[in-house]
Amino acid sequence: MKIGILSSGGDCPGINAAIRGVGKTAITHYGMEVIGLRGGFLGLLNKDTISLDDSSLSGILNLGGTILGTSREKPFRKLLGEEEGKPQIIKETYKELGLDCLVCIGGNGTQKTAYKLSEIGLNIIGIPKTIDNDVWGTDITFGFDTAVDIATEAIDRLHSTASSHNRVMVIELMGHDAGWITLHAGMAGGADIILLPELGFDIDVIAQAVLSRAEKGKRYSIVAIAEGVDIGERNLQKYKHPASYIAEKIEELTGIESRETVLGYVQRGGNPSAYDRTLATRLGGHATELIANKDFGRMVCLKNGEITSTSLRKVAGKLKLIEPDNDLILQGVRMGISFGKKLDI
Ligand code: F6P
Repeated sequence: MKIGILSSGGDCPGINAAIRGVGKTAITHYGMEVIGLRGGFLGLLNKDTISLDDSSLSGILNLGGTILGTSREKPFRKLLGEEEGKPQIIKETYKELGLDCLVCIGGNGTQKTAYKLSEIGLNIIGIPKTIDNDVWGTDITFGFDTAVDIATEAIDRLHSTASSHNRVMVIELMGHDAGWITLHAGMAGGADIILLPELGFDIDVIAQAVLSRAEKGKRYSIVAIAEGVDIGERNLQKYKHPASYIAEKIEELTGIESRETVLGYVQRGGNPSAYDRTLATRLGGHATELIANKDFGRMVCLKNGEITSTSLRKVAGKLKLIEPDNDLILQGVRMGISFGKKLDI
């Protein structure tokens, strides 16, 4: 069999481990031929390919980013003026290249495109990846563990400067519409207030949480906020970052000096953690097994510690968000951590 691999959407640590997991299993165990498509779905539109063999797949396990490159190209998107017929071009390239299957490594958008490509007759396997951990159908995506480690270290480092200056430090973390990185890094880094898009916030509750800490002699506070927290369109235009708005409001309402930090892209750069490497390797291996069994139209996933798969049809168009009864939120509340609003727990 001949298979193609692409990575699409925002990069994250562990993609190369997944490419290696698919490629080495395909070549060594199943005797398949493997090629890479460069720049996500652009690789299929532009017929931009590289051959992947045992030596090009060596030495990449611990590398961040993706050796194949990536883009946010969405071939099914219909925008005014945008070239139409991209799915058809992809179908033709797939045939011309003689592919028996296309492996799509990506987040929600990629899995949706993967599903649509399978609907027009291509053999597709999806592999979920993203630091955001918001792909429906899998318990954890690779990239997430590494991002949480990086964000936790950043929060750790804010504690000493916050304490030296008696300040409120607001740190904004990535996650798009989901608060997974913020919840996990916030809890691991000992944040006092954690603000998640899934819960929303009440600025008076936040200010009160800071003030009651001050009354107890705790002269500084750490606030972890997810980039997707809704501060209203006008505030977003003015402040650009939810962290800037929240820091300004806290200072205004409490009189305590407040500063913001927007951690940004360092969260998805650099080497994957050991956990992400093994998760990506296992998912890659299972993807190849599905291909060998001609079990197409599926996304490999982690469910209750087991590597398995689910149908792309079920995954397409859904997001995995934090539920209000998440056990880490419950535990935080029980320890006096504020989630920025009154919760019925
Ligand atoms: O999906 C991963 C992610 O890093 C999000 O957390 C963030 O909102 C987004 O990508 C940034 O995207 P871009 O690379 O297009 O700036």
